[in-house]
Amino acid sequence: MVKVKLTTKLDSDVLVVGLGALNKKLQIESGTAQVDSTALLSTLNAMGATGKNDEVIKLPGKSSKLIVFTGLGKIESNYNPEVLRRAAGAAARELSGNKSASFSLPHKSVVELAAIAEGAALGSYSFTDFLGNSKKDQKDPLSIVNVLTKFTDTAQAKSAARRAEIIAEQTFLVRDLINTPPSHLTPDSFCLQIKKLASKYGVKIEVINDAALRKGGYGGIIGVGQGSANPPRLLRVSYTPAKAKKRYAFVGKGITFDTGGLALKPAAGMEAMKADMSGAAAVVASVFAIAQLKLPVAVDAWAPLAENMVSDTATRPSDVITIYGGKTVEVLNPDAEGRLVLADALVKAAEVGKKSGGLDGIIDVATLTGAQVVALGSRTSAVMTNDENFSGQFLTAANISGEAFWPMPLPIELRASLDSPIADLANIGDRMGGMLVAGLFLKEFIDPQTPWLHLDIAGPAFNEKSAHGYTPVGGTGIALRSLICLAELASSQS
Ligand code: BES
Ligand code: MN
Ligand code: ZN
Repeated sequence: MVKVKLTTKLDSDVLVVGLGALNKKLQIESGTAQVDSTALLSTLNAMGATGKNDEVIKLPGKSSKLIVFTGLGKIESNYNPEVLRRAAGAAARELSGNKSASFSLPHKSVVELAAIAEGAALGSYSFTDFLGNSKKDQKDPLSIVNVLTKFTDTAQAKSAARRAEIIAEQTFLVRDLINTPPSHLTPDSFCLQIKKLASKYGVKIEVINDAALRKGGYGGIIGVGQGSANPPRLLRVSYTPAKAKKRYAFVGKGITFDTGGLALKPAAGMEAMKADMSGAAAVVASVFAIAQLKLPVAVDAWAPLAENMVSDTATRPSDVITIYGGKTVEVLNPDAEGRLVLADALVKAAEVGKKSGGLDGIIDVATLTGAQVVALGSRTSAVMTNDENFSGQFLTAANISGEAFWPMPLPIELRASLDSPIADLANIGDRMGGMLVAGLFLKEFIDPQTPWLHLDIAGPAFNEKSAHGYTPVGGTGIALRSLICLAELASSQS
């Protein structure tokens, strides 16, 4: 857990400042901290420093033992909050082994201050749970982030600091769950972990086990989970404040490992499929954060959890399953499993939402298709919707949060490719536009009157390349901050 403190004076051994360039000329951006720019710039120039984003340079300091320069790119009079968030995060990532550091980066408002605090906190992450003998050689990440600012006393600034701690705490939960290997994270152990945390955060949980799922008619979750020795679950985490302005359901794909089932995936790269529960982790953690922030928004997170395995009990291509609510699906490809577990959970979430007065929106979050990565790469996620207004709100939230989401269509002409000669629907359709076809499949399980978003985070959920900004290698925590921000925007509406 990271602590975030706001201070006016330097009180740690490490000072982090910004470095940027204007017309190839280096410039130090040290916020409220006093530094000897002339001497430092001559050293930095001699070293060939550029001030580019993700460049981090450490030098011996005068007022601190160490002065750390983090790249801001082009010098601006007002920095984009995401530039500050990333610069703070990149520096924090390089400071493992230090207990605390003071971040003095340029900012003119509490919004920018908040971004600095958030980035520094988000960069202070490591995952060492499964190191054995080499654990002793590990250096712990920063545990205290000091942010130098003149805004120390305002209520706004104080809540920004607390918010940064909450964002980091819940992002670390998402990352930890993603990084935990499937040998140690099963549908059942996922629920047990969340149960412990739920009591800490004062939110309610409900777990539907495999016997109850079978009895209740959840054919998607049962079908996907039936090949595994680790039985499936449907987890619900609810936060219900007394006076809720809005009521949402968030549904996250929770495949604890996706082998592809009998449509077995190639060995190369299969290891990344431990991240196929990223959506589930994000929705659950978002409810924890929304509860910690005490937002006047009621949220139910639903996580259909299953392990997609190969065995004599696994679903065969051509098997027909019945989704909760009665629609039948011909499973032509057992590797298109996410949509099957999501279908059950989406129908259930809507049914429960209706009983408690109706939903203002339903959002599913899923590492759903390889086609998403082909279309948008590994850092931009997709949004599909039946309601442009709702997706507009979400894209605003994503933009404020510094998470890259991009709108994608659901073209009706692709829908016919999901027709099956023997069931209501097939689980695969046209290969071209595969991300959109998956969205169209889910749309079949949505009440057209309810605003719905489908977030495909297949690429951005898991960073297989190198760390950058505040993003580590492995689980990233994508979607969490946008979901929290959406709830915040709904809270501030009249
Ligand atoms: N979990 C995968 C999607 C995925 C791919 C996530 C790459 C992250 C990175 C999903 O279950 C899957 O296998 N989808 C298939 C669907 C196809 C069979 C229609 C795919 O995208 O190939
Ligand atoms: Mn799959
Ligand atoms: Zn999958």
